[in-house]
Amino acid sequence: MSGGYVAAIDQGTTSTRCLVFDHAGRMVSLAQHEHTQHFPRPGWAEHDAAEIWANTQRVLPEALALAELEVGDIAGVGIANQRETTLVWDRSTGRPVAPAITWQDTRCADIVAEMLRGPHVELFEQVTGLTPAGYFAAPRLRWLLDHVPGLQRRARTGQLAFGTVESWLIWNLTGGPDGGVHVTDVTNASRTLLMDARTLSWDQRLLDALDVPAELMPEIRPNVEVHGTCRVGLPGVQIGGAFGDQQAALFGQTCFAAGEAKCTYGTGAFLLMNTGEAPAPSARGLLSTVAYAIEGEAPRYATEGSIAVAGALVQWFRDALEMIGSAPEIETLARRVDDTGDCYVVPAFAGLFAPHWEPDARGVIVGLTSYVTRAHLARAVLEATAWQTAEVVEAMTADTGIAFTSLRVDGGMTTNHLAMQMVADVLAVPVERPLGSESVSVGAAYAAGLAVGYWPDLEVLRANWRRAATWEPAMSAASRRRGRAAWDRAVQRTRGWVV
Ligand code: G3P
Repeated sequence: MSGGYVAAIDQGTTSTRCLVFDHAGRMVSLAQHEHTQHFPRPGWAEHDAAEIWANTQRVLPEALALAELEVGDIAGVGIANQRETTLVWDRSTGRPVAPAITWQDTRCADIVAEMLRGPHVELFEQVTGLTPAGYFAAPRLRWLLDHVPGLQRRARTGQLAFGTVESWLIWNLTGGPDGGVHVTDVTNASRTLLMDARTLSWDQRLLDALDVPAELMPEIRPNVEVHGTCRVGLPGVQIGGAFGDQQAALFGQTCFAAGEAKCTYGTGAFLLMNTGEAPAPSARGLLSTVAYAIEGEAPRYATEGSIAVAGALVQWFRDALEMIGSAPEIETLARRVDDTGDCYVVPAFAGLFAPHWEPDARGVIVGLTSYVTRAHLARAVLEATAWQTAEVVEAMTADTGIAFTSLRVDGGMTTNHLAMQMVADVLAVPVERPLGSESVSVGAAYAAGLAVGYWPDLEVLRANWRRAATWEPAMSAASRRRGRAAWDRAVQRTRGWVV
């Protein structure tokens, strides 16, 4: 090992970032580029994987330059990525065969309906711990195989590769058509609907059920392990880990023990609780998922409440409604009033995720009167994230029997103090943010640092966690009950909109 720093690539829904960290887990630089969001039809959401790879190649040298570092100063690099976003590329040209279908895309409803009606639904549930839904990668892969001319045939020849975004980046970083390594990690693989959650390998019966040729599939690897050496971007640097971004945040928040949980507020919001050494299937709309795997050790599992729209609602309020000029302005606007004027916004833009899983739900604004101003709406937009968090926490507590005594948070939206106060209010527990809200990148850096021996063990990482802010609950129990009941009525209004 050489180098006094570790790097993380955080390839998210809206941007690609490179962050460099020191031994204390402190960020020393950050470079970021947004990529284009393509919405070619209602409910479709695509990314250009070539643009994402180009942005990755830009942010790596930029982050080094900002910290005045050379490639030789980097001991290892880790990757965290938007999960479930699905792409297929040609192994010889290195070009994607079609736009990447992102995790927010709803086009696979028919494929999923067929899976749910079909003979294999119980097999999918038993093997993966998941009920088929359009959120996962496999229905998107099936859609590509059905709709890109000749793809099914070419897939059988071994010419093509399937991957989520970490696979794409690792393959390109390690040489692309010139010997690139085709791997995925257990956390991303656990979101495909094709991996056996216990053996952590592809299940041939599930591949057959969806007619997915095994030749397409990457090798599944632990999160903390050297996956290969960069030939491009950071030449000579070892890729020491890869993680789905939400599991990366759980790792970055050092939730290593069963019962420890975090919620990341980004485009969506994702609350994960470590459930220990066995998968924990849910009866209440939560997802059983892999938390992390360290090479040579038993994997750890998590239960997850996935909320599709959180920060994305603020972006919509800014860009589509043009109510504010920049995201931080929403806090100033919302603080002009004391309440929402009894108005509720339910952002079911991509259907409702946890705990409802209603693909046909669509967003609503209810309770409008002529009293309601854009300030009330701004408040309702922020409250939507808090009420959605409350629904997930209630399901998790009922599933696991573990009552939350506090909640660790991170992600861009945690700079909004009012939003975090609302979360504390509706959960009735303190909400805590660590120093630096970049837990996704911290988790990826920790994986890489552990794999290359930059950090010795998890205990050292735990010692790096420092509290920066706490929001104490301040809402009366009566207001909480009233608001929660009104939220339920608002959610009812979203159902069955697509006929
Ligand atoms: O499951 C989707 C999730 O991984 C996306 O996270 O932060 O890129 O919006 P983010």
